[in-house]
Amino acid sequence: MLSYRHMYHAGNYADVFKHALLTRLLLALGHKDKPYCYHDTHAGIGRYDLMHPWAQKAREYDNGIARLWGREDIPEALASYMAAVKAANPYPNLRFYPGSPVIARHLIRPGDRMILTELNKEDYAELKLQFAGDKQVAAHLLDGYQGLKAFLPPAERRGLVLLDSSFDRAKEFMRIATALKEAHARWPTGMYAVWYPLMEPGAMLGFAREIESSGIRKILKLEFSVMPDESAFTPGCGMLVINPPYQFKDEAKPLLDWLWRALSVDGAGGVKVDWLVRE
Ligand SMILES: C[S@@+](CC[C@H](N)C(=O)[O-])C[C@H]1O[C@@H](n2cnc3c(N)ncnc32)[C@H](O)[C@@H]1O
Repeated sequence: MLSYRHMYHAGNYADVFKHALLTRLLLALGHKDKPYCYHDTHAGIGRYDLMHPWAQKAREYDNGIARLWGREDIPEALASYMAAVKAANPYPNLRFYPGSPVIARHLIRPGDRMILTELNKEDYAELKLQFAGDKQVAAHLLDGYQGLKAFLPPAERRGLVLLDSSFDRAKEFMRIATALKEAHARWPTGMYAVWYPLMEPGAMLGFAREIESSGIRKILKLEFSVMPDESAFTPGCGMLVINPPYQFKDEAKPLLDWLWRALSVDGAGGVKVDWLVRE
């Protein structure tokens, strides 16, 4: 039984962090003429109505996308991300937040392709509707980890896999580590981005050790915290990027520093970008 619904959290600081980086990774893939495949293992519904009662419950977007909306000093590195958010909003007010599939759809080119898997039946129904008739997008009601076995490596041999689990089951870090090692064995040259919450330091440490000792190389670790210790919300989150694009590390640090200044609550937290495993 899946109880997690992303609608409660849509557009929060973790989404901004994740989607800003996702945008940069897809833009880098788009620099070469050859087609690529974007594979989203935990796709969600695709687009979130921030006026929905679930989104209104804690209004997490207030400390996320709402802080960027309307700002006129958005750095160039975030321009495509903000353009994707604006494209989801037909009116001047912020109403909808695009999830990872809709952001990716905004960026892929006519020859590129997207594979989406989502396990929650109701969320899948909305996702399917969102992309109905779209020949570049294949959405599946499927466990994301099974999907990796079914669809990797992609025919294009170029692309990005986003693993964005809801972390609502015990031992999720270990499940991700196992899936990542298997996926990497199938497709060692693929780019992988794995999002995680900074909430269980012990589990995270075990996960990092597992990945470090897996033999996988070229893994960048990006961490972003904005919430004070006493906050009811998770203090921060991170992303591992395997096989990041050239110069992604140097590009990501100033982008995240800017986001931190925009989103940190009372100066809490900070940004860390470093190699977990070098080339
Ligand atoms: C954090 S949300 C995804 C948000 C989405 N990637 C985005 O950025 O817009 C996680 C999603 O994964 C789904 N989910 C949970 N376990 C899953 C699994 N084993 N396989 C596929 N989807 C799963 C949940 O129903 C939820 O919609």
